Amino acid sequence: MAKHTVVSMPGDGIGNQVLPEAVRVLKAVGFDAEYVHADIGWECWINEGNALPQRTIDLLAKHKLGLFGAITSKPNKEAQAELKPELRGKGHVYYSPIVTMRQKFNLDICMRPCVGFLGNPLNYIRKRVDGGFDEPRIDTTVFRQNTEGMYAGVEWTNPPENVRAALNTHPRFKAFANVPPADLAVSVRIITRPAARRIVTAAFEYAKKRGFKGVTICEKPNVVRETSGMMEETAKEVAKNYPGIDLWSTNIDAQLMWLNKNPEDYNVIVASNLFGDILSDAFAGLVGGLGFAASGNIGDEVAVFEPTHGSAPKYAELNPPIVNPIAMILTAAMMLDHIGEGARADRIRKAIADVVKEGKVRTYDMMRISGGAKSISQGAASTILMTDAILAKLK
Ligand code: NAI
Ligand code: MG
Repeated sequence: MAKHTVVSMPGDGIGNQVLPEAVRVLKAVGFDAEYVHADIGWECWINEGNALPQRTIDLLAKHKLGLFGAITSKPNKEAQAELKPELRGKGHVYYSPIVTMRQKFNLDICMRPCVGFLGNPLNYIRKRVDGGFDEPRIDTTVFRQNTEGMYAGVEWTNPPENVRAALNTHPRFKAFANVPPADLAVSVRIITRPAARRIVTAAFEYAKKRGFKGVTICEKPNVVRETSGMMEETAKEVAKNYPGIDLWSTNIDAQLMWLNKNPEDYNVIVASNLFGDILSDAFAGLVGGLGFAASGNIGDEVAVFEPTHGSAPKYAELNPPIVNPIAMILTAAMMLDHIGEGARADRIRKAIADVVKEGKVRTYDMMRISGGAKSISQGAASTILMTDAILAKLK
């Protein structure tokens, strides 16, 4: 029997192209696992009215470790129109299977490393006064609270009477008291202290493990006093348990400016859901973008690892596939880190680093050309050739 069982959820579009490539790499480093396929995504929605079927939830509950590709999601009207005819008008509502999965298993720690590989033509560079340029080494991991904040899902357009009445009790709501119901939309930003403590602790533990000197809490407590305030207050409390590590505090707006000026100053950043989402995409853009961005959704029991990118439907039918498998392969490496197979994960990252540094094999995104059937004739490597190059470096 294999030592590990991985629930493999390729999902939609290019998820089906990149996930098998990651499995090839996992096999090549001798990771002893069995892969159990699970359905998720748009096909499930169309045919079953549910993008995250119960059988997939059951498999995750049983095996506790998931590798996920990407899903397609569409606005409500399109979602309803694409449902198979016999399911229409039966009250099925589309919910993002990823958000549902995060909430169902309380995958509250989202970890998003943004690490630059030397020689990547997509890396951030900075012009010097002498006309030359610097290419600072970026090694930033964003810890994003994954289940609360602006994505808690508690929101209304035209809130019910009792909600409106509750809002009316707040003095600041006076300014909105006369807004016609249909013109009022409210999204509730929820932060709980235990969840704040968990995400901040995860960030500090990571900083400790990597030997980093500081953790940055990135919020906006001067304006969003209650929720950002609780994040920051909790960060200060948690920081007391880590005497060797400083807590720095930045505001989300200023932080985005700093990351354009000196991104190398930040190694560990912790933030609530929406801010963490924004920060991690912004940092990913400095180290190669979606083709390089991996993430982990980690709970106490279950963990699911996924690249940050989506299903890129416009490339899904290309044969050979052209998208960059590195994000997915880095995702698989994160999964290995999580289950104590760090040495294998390091081998994978080293092989990727070697391929990128050598610069002979590059997918279209790394060449700054547009993607499409003709990328290959313009010298871009296919998804499969990129994986082959990584496998060759593992030998
Ligand atoms: P996307 O991430 O699928 O693609 C955006 C663009 O990024 C692509 O057109 C492509 O140019 C580039 N790209 C993405 N992955 C790449 C890779 N591995 N290598 C090279 N280039 C890559 O986002 P988009 O187009 O906004 O959404 C497409 C679908 O994916 C939508 O249905 C959306 O809802 C869904 N989505 C799903 C996510 C997930 O499964 N976690 C995350 C983001 C979007
Ligand atoms: Mg995002």
